[in-house]
Amino acid sequence: MSDARHQPPQQPANEPTVDSVARSEALHIDRYEGIWVRVSMTTLALFTVAVIYASTAMGIQLPGMHMRIDPRTVATPGMSLFAEPKVTQIREGEYEAYIRAQAQPWIFTPSKIHIPVGAKLTLYITSQDVQHGFYIDRTNVNVMVLPGQVTKTAARFDKPGVYNFICHEYCGIGHHTMFGQIIVETPEMIAEATATAEAAVALATGVGNPANGQARFTLCAGCHGLGGEGVKGLGKPLANSEFVAGLKDAELVDFIKKGRAIDDPANTSGVAMPPKGGNPALNDNDLLDIVAFIRTLQTQ
Ligand code: CUA
Repeated sequence: MSDARHQPPQQPANEPTVDSVARSEALHIDRYEGIWVRVSMTTLALFTVAVIYASTAMGIQLPGMHMRIDPRTVATPGMSLFAEPKVTQIREGEYEAYIRAQAQPWIFTPSKIHIPVGAKLTLYITSQDVQHGFYIDRTNVNVMVLPGQVTKTAARFDKPGVYNFICHEYCGIGHHTMFGQIIVETPEMIAEATATAEAAVALATGVGNPANGQARFTLCAGCHGLGGEGVKGLGKPLANSEFVAGLKDAELVDFIKKGRAIDDPANTSGVAMPPKGGNPALNDNDLLDIVAFIRTLQTQ
């Protein structure tokens, strides 16, 4: 028997011990697997940071319940902001709208919302009866509308146009009729709408501006004379005219708008009166001003 048998087995320094073999086998990760694990962990970490940043720094929150409300009184005047819901401007470029959804009849009130382009619109929506939905086309507004609670959501409208909104929760036999529009207008569209509204008011009240009308009358003067005295072979006199006296402002505006064709049996001058005297750019307001000027020519 040699002494070597009693010596502890010699282990070369470069060979792994039993312990370290077990540990490294338990931790063995394939190179590519390791890469993917790191990619996944990094992605998760990035998402977590992004969610925290979006909700805190950018203020992006899930649309949710804003407050509770009693659906039995939600449509009762004086009892809630939803009784006569409307759109209001809260500051420059920011609007808020209260919208009430209801079944029987199946409607949104209001169903038409006008805002200027670039405006941020905050919506408070509730239902007075059953569960409805609210989805605005071409935006990421997509919420449920429940009786008893107010849903708050918001969107910014940077492109002009008509954005349809619909109820997208089946709410009864008239569900498909629940829709409305958000009309995002450019300054030109607003100016035009204002002019049309003013013209409608002016027509209803019959108040034109004779000074503006005189300025516009130069076109008419070609056939009717600068003082409305008429031009032989062209236009009839408008001053002290029975025809003018016999018509109301709105009727005269209507007449000038249409003109009088040469084959019209009522045409006694033998010359056509072109619609709007030949200037299609004149709007109702302009025509009313012209009528107001023509009125000043009636001295008898
Ligand atoms: Cu309301 Cu569907």
